[in-house]
Amino acid sequence: MKKTENQMLVIFGASGDLTARKLVPALFNLYLAKHLPENFVVLGVSRSNLSDESFRDRVVYNSDYLQEKIKKNKDSDIQGFANRLYYEDLGSSYDTDFGSLRKRVEALKEKHSISGNIIYYLSTPPTLYEAIAKRLSESGMNAQENGWKRLIVEKPFGYSLETAKNLNKGLHQYFSEGQIYRIDHYLGKETVQNLLVTRFANSIFEPLWNRNYIEHVEITNAESVGVEKRGGYYDKSGALRDMFQNHLLQIVSLVVMEPPIGAEAEEIRNEKVKALKSLRVMTDEQILFKNTIRAQYVSSVVNGEKVKGYREEDGVDPNSTTETFAAVKFYVDNWRWHGVPFYVRTAKRMPTKVTEVVIHFKEPHHQIFNEPGMHKKDNKLIIRIQPDEGILIKFGVKVPGQGFKVERANLDFYYSSLAETYVMEAYERLLLDAMQGDATLYARADEVEAAWEFVDPILNYWQNGKDVRMYGYSAGVWGPENSDRLFEGNGFWRNPSENLADDPGYCVIC
Ligand code: BG6
Repeated sequence: MKKTENQMLVIFGASGDLTARKLVPALFNLYLAKHLPENFVVLGVSRSNLSDESFRDRVVYNSDYLQEKIKKNKDSDIQGFANRLYYEDLGSSYDTDFGSLRKRVEALKEKHSISGNIIYYLSTPPTLYEAIAKRLSESGMNAQENGWKRLIVEKPFGYSLETAKNLNKGLHQYFSEGQIYRIDHYLGKETVQNLLVTRFANSIFEPLWNRNYIEHVEITNAESVGVEKRGGYYDKSGALRDMFQNHLLQIVSLVVMEPPIGAEAEEIRNEKVKALKSLRVMTDEQILFKNTIRAQYVSSVVNGEKVKGYREEDGVDPNSTTETFAAVKFYVDNWRWHGVPFYVRTAKRMPTKVTEVVIHFKEPHHQIFNEPGMHKKDNKLIIRIQPDEGILIKFGVKVPGQGFKVERANLDFYYSSLAETYVMEAYERLLLDAMQGDATLYARADEVEAAWEFVDPILNYWQNGKDVRMYGYSAGVWGPENSDRLFEGNGFWRNPSENLADDPGYCVIC
């Protein structure tokens, strides 16, 4: 196991939702599992007027996200953890002199015998990232003479290619690339990392992983919830920026990449960048019209309950043209993937929450069992990212009896069958990695920019194109009626069920 040196975690935006919902529970799990170093403290920083005690009450003792754990664990453990949390009020602005923050950091270092190792976690609006990095630098808090300094930044990383580039440039004035950790919580998911293992630790898949055997690749990310309380943010973002540019293109890069020469962070990230750069950028309006679909959910009744349409959600413009469903078909311009279409979609208010990658294999080169509907019986490899995490292979078997009637059978593996294995939450894993200086599961500057290169023209087209359409779909169905039109020939989306092995067709409003 890698060593975690003594250190301090300074969270900017500590009174926000992410700290209570994800960061503190992740740290608490790390604490219980004894992954935190002996000398370790968290300093929450934000503009709310809180004392250390009221911060602890808010994110530990009275936090909805820790109640179950508080019930299950000893008071001394809860207290031992809470006592490592401190809070510093920055006043009315983040863009301020960090002199007193620095003093507080120095005092805590002294009190807890922590050297100068510090992670700054920016959980603030991205517009503040550069200002905070600048202020840290002005007060000498980025200096690495007495210990390393790392900067973790949350998504969204930029709003477009240009803004992402500016942000990278801005941060690089104060922190080197090696110090910057761009978080993408999908990379913290075990099942996403397992894509690498499935591909590169087995000899049975890799020989087939190319245009000779793969007909098309399909990736679905569906959520049953709507925009919840985040209408204001989401309406300026939309599905393509919120999920596709980051989480889904990260998954795409792991499916597409060439085998790296080793498992080191830079080797893997180099291959991922190459993969993202090989996505064929679509700029022609007709091509974009044919290969992209955007839509918004409209109100409906789901499981007997009336559900609001997107435009009626709080914080959303009643005339909004922001997409809650985005589907894109594209090609990858390299030797391995030439001519293989990729279909990727993401949406809110679908029938169920599911993320999966489906590799559809080509039909046998010479088909001897010519019964109707054979194309529906293609071999599929389904990699379930969530829920019911696992892997399913669909293959043909003979139906007993005369002749050769073919049916599909399942070969499946479920993570839940790995009984005693504790699966870390995404944030837990990612925080621990950053504490240990392992950036493998964090996005590099060029990776983020390569993803924006692909996404930017789609966004521009959706914003300014001539024939752009915004379709509607009832909340609770699998997107607009025409979403299968992206597929050529007999293709259609596999609308998965909650459980990996159940056959598709799941619907909550029919
Ligand atoms: C976030 C998006 O990055 O990912 C949210 O901003 C989305 O809109 C969430 O709901 C989905 O994450 P998960 O892990 O629940 O699939």
